[in-house]
This record gives sequence, C-alpha cells and structure tokens, in this order.
Amino acid sequence: MFDLDKYTSFIEAQIKDIQTPKKPANLYDPFRYLLNIGGKRIRPILTLLGAELFGLEKEKVIGQALSVEIFHNFTLVHDDIMDEAPLRRNSKTVHEKWNQNVAILSGDVMLIKAYQQLCRIEPERLSEALLLFNNTAIEVCEGQQLDMDFETRDNVTIDEYIEMIRLKTSVLLGSALQLGSIVAQADKVDQENLFAFGQNIGIAFQIQDDILDLYADPEKFGKQVGGDVISNKKTILHLTAEANATIEQNEVLKQLQKETNIEFKIKRTRELFDQLDVKKTCKDKMDAYSKKAMTSLDAINVNEDQKENLIQLAAYLMLREV
Ligand code: IPE
Ligand code: IPE
Ligand code: MG
Ligand code: MG
Ligand code: MG
Repeated sequence: MFDLDKYTSFIEAQIKDIQTPKKPANLYDPFRYLLNIGGKRIRPILTLLGAELFGLEKEKVIGQALSVEIFHNFTLVHDDIMDEAPLRRNSKTVHEKWNQNVAILSGDVMLIKAYQQLCRIEPERLSEALLLFNNTAIEVCEGQQLDMDFETRDNVTIDEYIEMIRLKTSVLLGSALQLGSIVAQADKVDQENLFAFGQNIGIAFQIQDDILDLYADPEKFGKQVGGDVISNKKTILHLTAEANATIEQNEVLKQLQKETNIEFKIKRTRELFDQLDVKKTCKDKMDAYSKKAMTSLDAINVNEDQKENLIQLAAYLMLREV
C-alpha cells in the first residue's frame, strides 16, 4: 500500500530544516510563512517517486524535491498578486498579510532559493537538471501570461486553454518527476515517458483545480471559492458552458462578466453552469487525461510493481477536495 503520509512527513521535516536568515524580516518571513502553512506537497513527492521508480532512495533526491516545492511556492506568491487572491492554504496571501512589494521580492528570493536546492546534485547531473528546470520555469511564465491574457479575451478555444494549463501547471508536475529520474540516471526514453505521464496528470490536476475553484466546500478549500469567476478566468468550466449554451444563455454569460455584484455574479454563473451540466463534462475530460497519462506510465521500462505508488498518487489527486 502506498503510504502518502510517510512521504508528506518526510517533505515537511525537510522543509522545517531549511535555514533562512532572520533579517531582513520582510524578505524572509513570507518565505517561512508560506512554506509552513500547509500545502499538499504533491510536486516534491513526485520527485521522490520519480527517483524511487528507478531504484534510487528518496534521501538522495531531497535537494531537487525541495527545489520544486520552493519554486512552486514562488509561483503561488506571484500568482496570488496577479489573481488578487485573498486566501491561500486557509491563511492570508502574502501580499494581503504584508504588501505587494514584499510579495514580489520575497517571491524573487524564493526562486533563487529553489535554484540553490536544485544545485545539491552530483556535478555530472547538474547541466541536465538545469536545462529541464530552466525550460520549465520559462514555460510556467508563458502559461501565466496566457492565463491573464485570456481574462479579457472572448472566443478562447479549448485547445488554447489546454496549452495554457499545460504551460502554467502541467510541465512542472512532469518536470518534478523527471528531475527525480535524472538523479536516478534513468535512460532518456524512460525519462520522457515519465515526463509525459506527469504532464497529462498535470492537465487533469488543473482541470480539477478549476472545478474546485467554484464547487469546493469553502470550509475545506483554503482558497476563495469563486475567485476564477470574479476574475473572468477562461477556465474549462467557462469554456464548456460557452460551447454548450444557447445564444440567450451565452448572452447572460457575457453580461455576467461585467457584473459588479460579486455574490450575484458567482451565484448566477454557477446556476448557469449547473443547467448546462458543466461540472460533469469537465470531470469526464479530467478522467480522459488521467487515463491518457497511464499509457505513458505503461511504457516505462521498470517492473510493474515499482509503478504502484505513482498509480495510487495519481488516483488520490483525482479525488482530492483541496
Ligand atoms: C495550486 O497548486 C496551484 C495550481 C497549479 C493549481 P496545489 O493545489 O498543489 O497547491 P498546494 O501546494 O497544495 O497548496
Ligand atoms: C496557478 O493557477 C498556476 C500557477 C501558480 C503557476 P491558478 O491561479 O488556478 O492556481 P490557484 O487556484 O490560485 O492555486
Ligand atoms: Mg490563482
Ligand atoms: Mg492564476
Ligand atoms: Mg485555480
């Protein structure tokens, strides 16, 4: 049986051990704050599992696992500024608790700290790891820009959406896994299949994130429910609704984008989505990507038993409520 808690506790303990200077407090307090208020730690766990898949112990890949988690936290700090999000992991976002300038600069230092952790690697593996990490970091920025550009655009296609979430979210899940496999010296074809597995799981993961943004239980979610509707994000929910709506319903959807009464905007949008059975259609799409991921995992040249943890982690991700 896959023991998720064992991996999460391992990462938590390693995060607690990260040393950061006391001063300037406004630079390093946000780092300590965000990294210690929770989070599922999916990405670093993927790095551990990516190494274990090829027989390397998780202790040997901890620097790279932490680098991925710190990088992810950096993207969250800046994402929350861009999305004007008030809540993260059930606590105030960094720019709300401090201010925007603090959030920008503490985010910057997180990015550099991520690279420091990445460099805890055998010198022979460093250039391969850096090449992957750099490409991934650039693609995340590209995805984030597209995500913002789409807020003010009509007629975003589903294909454009998939490419946007592939960039902003999925490549990091793929790379988290691949980094583990690089340290474990897996062969290139296996590395690529592992990346492809992570990327498709990542697409399913972001579809789930979009669904939860509107449909999660506010008590559990830890983020503002309805945030994507408020910002006119072109989520998979929105695009599915647009595709299935009548001309009249599409007109309502357009008007709602301009609505200033936030509570009404969220409530009405959700009602419209429900009439169009949008959630179910999106869940089916999510399942399709999760299935697609499995074909890449199948192709990896290791004993089937070795894949069990990854299969179970993927299953857990698809059922998550947070
Ligand atoms: C949130 O990621 C950002 C997305 C790419 C959807 P997570 O849902 O993994 O956030 P934490 O780290 O568990 O808080
Ligand atoms: C975030 O997408 C992707 C990155 C942070 C790169 P979202 O904006 O949907 O993530 P949440 O919902 O705020 O966690
Ligand atoms: Mg956001
Ligand atoms: Mg965002
Ligand atoms: Mg989201």
